[in-house]
Amino acid sequence: MNAINEVSNSGRYARCIQASKRVRWDMEEDVIRGRRLDATHKFLPDGLSLADEFTTLSADEKRFVSQIQGRTYANVFGLVERFINAKILELSHDHWFGDQIVLEALVRFSDEELKHQALFRRIDTMVGDILPDGYCFDVDPDAVAHAVLGKSTWAVLALTLDIELFTQLHYRQSIDPDTELSELFKDVFLYHWKEESQHAILDELEWVRHDAGLTAEKRDRAVDEFIELVAAVDGILQAQAKADAGYFAAKCGRAVDEAEARAIEAAFLKAYRWQYIHSGAQHPHFGKVLSSLITENQGQRIQAALATLQ
Ligand SMILES: [Fe+2]
Ligand SMILES: [Fe+2]
Repeated sequence: MNAINEVSNSGRYARCIQASKRVRWDMEEDVIRGRRLDATHKFLPDGLSLADEFTTLSADEKRFVSQIQGRTYANVFGLVERFINAKILELSHDHWFGDQIVLEALVRFSDEELKHQALFRRIDTMVGDILPDGYCFDVDPDAVAHAVLGKSTWAVLALTLDIELFTQLHYRQSIDPDTELSELFKDVFLYHWKEESQHAILDELEWVRHDAGLTAEKRDRAVDEFIELVAAVDGILQAQAKADAGYFAAKCGRAVDEAEARAIEAAFLKAYRWQYIHSGAQHPHFGKVLSSLITENQGQRIQAALATLQ
């Protein structure tokens, strides 16, 4: 990396610190503010829950679906932020000495992800207080983090940038004028987005920095590992779609026959793939950064893998 790039990148890390200080929020004082969730509200906006895909459900049932998905949203973020934080702490090792601005930016990033995990645990409990018993999210964040961190840093940073960019799109969906959407859930999207904006910039800076030290062979292997990580995310989403569809059918208060149960599970899976895979993969900035690092053939391999997850 040449001297001019180093200077301008140092400025970008410094601007992330400034933004992090400016937007910093407290979970209880700024986000929760003594509020409780209300079961008459939707938790996820229709554009994320893909409400229209649940064609056999009434409006009340679609609201229940958005609440189940809202709880799963909190759990999925609690899960991914465990490995994101561990990777950021690991990368901070490269900056222990030298540019302390970069180190401070990553330490703040890590601190924010710990706070976000606490927020998402809080939201999971709050949703649990008002929804029927029986919801299940049976995935251990530490086990997933161990598996993810077994892949190369390049692959983990690719997945991380993808995730941290799609939180911005999720925020934009949540500001849709929908009077049935929970104000508290809207604030979760808003406050999370405020800090994720800096994280996405830092992911990109660290990814490009790390990429510069890789051989073409190592990068090629890392592309395959990124594809493996996306497939692993999809495995979690398939299991959760099944669990959430089963919970819906058991608690919606009417009989759901086998054909309808299958259609509901397929709609849950489509929504989860949209939320956690395709909304990031289709993000223009993710495509721009990714394509600047890989060959056309590697890009085609990624697109072919994504196309199987429809
Ligand atoms: Fe976060
Ligand atoms: Fe983040």
